[in-house]
Amino acid sequence: MFCFELKDVRKTYGAGAQEVHALDGVSLGFAPGEFTVLCGPSGSGKTTLLNMIGLLDTPTAGEVFVEEEDVSRLSSKRLARIRAGRIGFVFQAFNLVPVLSALENVEVSLHLARTPGDHRAIATEALERVGLGKLIHRKPGQLSGGQQQRVAIARALAKSPALVIADEPTANLDSATGAEILAIMREMNEEDGVTFLFSTHDPMVRDCARRVVILRDGRVAEDDVRARRPAGGAACSS
Ligand SMILES: Nc1ncnc2c1ncn2[C@@H]1O[C@H](COP(=O)(O)OP(=O)(O)OP(=O)(O)O)[C@@H](O)[C@H]1O
Ligand SMILES: [Mg+2]
Repeated sequence: MFCFELKDVRKTYGAGAQEVHALDGVSLGFAPGEFTVLCGPSGSGKTTLLNMIGLLDTPTAGEVFVEEEDVSRLSSKRLARIRAGRIGFVFQAFNLVPVLSALENVEVSLHLARTPGDHRAIATEALERVGLGKLIHRKPGQLSGGQQQRVAIARALAKSPALVIADEPTANLDSATGAEILAIMREMNEEDGVTFLFSTHDPMVRDCARRVVILRDGRVAEDDVRARRPAGGAACSS
């Protein structure tokens, strides 16, 4: 099972008078199957923290453990291997390849992750699951924002990752589409046990989480674990 932990993680950019402590001693543990939301003002360190957990960046000081292995000082090649196989990303800007169809975008990610099996069949099934079964041959430019975000989710989920990281996944969507996207993610969390970690400014996303971590100035200001809120409404009722 996939668990990860940060121990006194610091990330400093620049030097001298320009020094920025993007993360200033963050310690957090995440159990498998969690659905956690990361909140905090702009510049508080959310994206920096997600990049650290997603193994896209390494800390200036402190340790990052993935499945009890200290990954803070692994080679970039090893990190890339763990990342491709175990972690799915959903970026705010979708990051789809514009010249490839929805199907090909998902297939490429399966190829990079070296996922075993028939990539075309797995990619088709993932796109069907997010409601895009009829649009798999369209390119991103021929899809709406919400549809592109679904392709990004299908791409993240097709390789059956242990962890999905999403940086403001609903920021570019209208609230109805955002609620649909959230419902898909909750279903994956509840049915497949995929661990989710989101950053968000969106109260609807926050209300849907079981755990809310609030960052302020690169530190954990609050870490609130609670039962799922019934007030989450439609967004949570997958
Ligand atoms: N590459 C970089 N070089 C210098 N400073 C950086 C760099 N990346 C981030 N920072 C700084 O680190 C701090 C944390 O940035 P981060 O992107 O993690 O914030 P955030 O909480 O994701 O904000 P937002 O809600 O606006 O996305 C900010 O002060 C930012 O300016
Ligand atoms: Mg950010």
